[in-house]
Amino acid sequence: MCGIFGVVTNHDQPLGSILVEAGRRLAYRGYDSIGCATISGNGQIDLRKDAGKIDEVNERWQLGEMRGRRGIVQLRWATFGAPSQANAQPHLDSDGDLVGAHNGNIVNHVSLREAFVEQGMTVRSTNDGESCVHAVERYVNTGLDLVDSIRRAYDDLQGDYAFVIGHQSSPTLHAIKKGSGLVVGIADKMTCVSSDLPSILPLTNQILRVCDGEIATLWSDRVELRRVSDGALIEREPETFTQGMEAAVKSGYAHFMLKEIHEQPQVAAELIHWLAASPHVEPFLEAMTSARRLYLVGCGTSYHACLVGAAYLNRLAKLAAVPVLAPQFRETLAHTLTPEDTVVFVSQSGETKDVLNALNATRPSGARILGVLNVLGSTLMQASQHYLPLACGYEISVPATKTYLNQVVLFLYLADRLSGRRIDWQAVPQLIQQTVDQTDSQARQVALLLNSFREFYFLGYGETLGVAMEGALKLKEITYLHCEGMLSAEFKHGPLSAVFDGYPVLFVNAPQDAAMMVNHVNEVTCRGGRAIAVAVEDELLRKNVNDYLLLPTTSPELTALLAVLPLQLISYYMSVARGIDPDFPRNLSKTLTVD
Ligand code: AGP
Repeated sequence: MCGIFGVVTNHDQPLGSILVEAGRRLAYRGYDSIGCATISGNGQIDLRKDAGKIDEVNERWQLGEMRGRRGIVQLRWATFGAPSQANAQPHLDSDGDLVGAHNGNIVNHVSLREAFVEQGMTVRSTNDGESCVHAVERYVNTGLDLVDSIRRAYDDLQGDYAFVIGHQSSPTLHAIKKGSGLVVGIADKMTCVSSDLPSILPLTNQILRVCDGEIATLWSDRVELRRVSDGALIEREPETFTQGMEAAVKSGYAHFMLKEIHEQPQVAAELIHWLAASPHVEPFLEAMTSARRLYLVGCGTSYHACLVGAAYLNRLAKLAAVPVLAPQFRETLAHTLTPEDTVVFVSQSGETKDVLNALNATRPSGARILGVLNVLGSTLMQASQHYLPLACGYEISVPATKTYLNQVVLFLYLADRLSGRRIDWQAVPQLIQQTVDQTDSQARQVALLLNSFREFYFLGYGETLGVAMEGALKLKEITYLHCEGMLSAEFKHGPLSAVFDGYPVLFVNAPQDAAMMVNHVNEVTCRGGRAIAVAVEDELLRKNVNDYLLLPTTSPELTALLAVLPLQLISYYMSVARGIDPDFPRNLSKTLTVD
């Protein structure tokens, strides 16, 4: 997830402050690189960009002093190409006539880049956003006008994205939407376009929504919308946005956590596209499958994704991977490592001290170090021989939601690929959406039930053990109540004594484990406990539990992936009902850089 903003005025003026302010308001979408371009009335393009946060790059390149008639700013969250000045956006075309920036992923950018080079174009970066500019350039070079060139480029650029582009000799900017957010603002003698409302609202509250498959052309005093497919004009009136800035920043959601829960279909789609197209997957898999011993190492939520990942690799790919908490790994395994071993470190931030300690303990052995991370440029990324990104964009809420989901997507994808590919990946984002929609009201009811108790158990088995533990961690983190996530088969070995009449125990079940899980359920219900199932429809299980939180029926492997969604919602609704701000729970911080 990155952020783009473009502005069109009717005369040369200081635009830097508008661009920097818009960039600050988009910084939640990406902050590893930033760039600004202005185009003045005489067609001169001023492009300043670099790796770093907005205030650092502003100080280094005086972005705030830039002048022009039109301007573009882009905030980058690296997925394709490391954060660097060359990979920062906006990008120029070969001759420097066109300048543009994108948000999203162009999944076929590697093959496009080869084609551009063969056609004699100048490619300056390894960033996929540059493909947008050259994809337009090659049609402009054939004599097509800018709108038709963009329409043709749209068909060539695969993935989910939006981009904004301007030519030095026209008074307009053009923006196109295909799967990523795009809104237009109409002010007095000024129009603007952005990935999101917060950067537009300081300038105007007159908003024009752009839909997928549409091109917006912005002049300083008007905006034209056209369909990409046939170039036809679209009539759409601007609307007046009446809510405040805070509502805009959270896209109308009450909290970032809820917003991030609802972003999961989109981020999963982006990661799935990325994995399918990436040349980095094969060497990563090779380092896993050729290992004498394979470990998956993380902390907190990332460790829970390792648990689910190890179960997937075991069952689907017949690959033994040992999930270990990072501090435990350092103390119990690091000294036994050899160069034939592979350690996959999993971390949203790539900066968690416990993970880096384990990584540093691994280095002397010569074992291969792989990384799964969300923050490109992080210490973990730099230390990894191969890494795969989570492609989630900035996760603001302290409780991890979308980054956990994409960690599990990633492991399931790897296991599925090793096993010969059976999952219909195109259908997965829609299933995630369906699960959020279908379980929301059920999750509210379960939250109401659980909120009258102070402690609970969430139990899982096989692939769902990590899910139950993750649901329990989420609940502890943002309700301040006690919830233990554990193996359902272990419950009878001690914790069962806690059960009394009405005591709630939640069971997360994958279809293949239903017969086994029914035994564990009955151990609880026959002692008066209240069993709540989170499962796809299963007649036997339904007959044996008190409450049933129903997941969509799909291929069995996907249940563990989807089951976390209602658990995230349960903890969110419990937290809010208790008057707690789930985004910033007490005593915790997003990235733990201490021992
Ligand atoms: C998750 O909700 C927590 N905030 C926490 O457990 C987190 O997952 C853990 O600190 C590890 O962070 P990392 O993924 O950035 O390494």
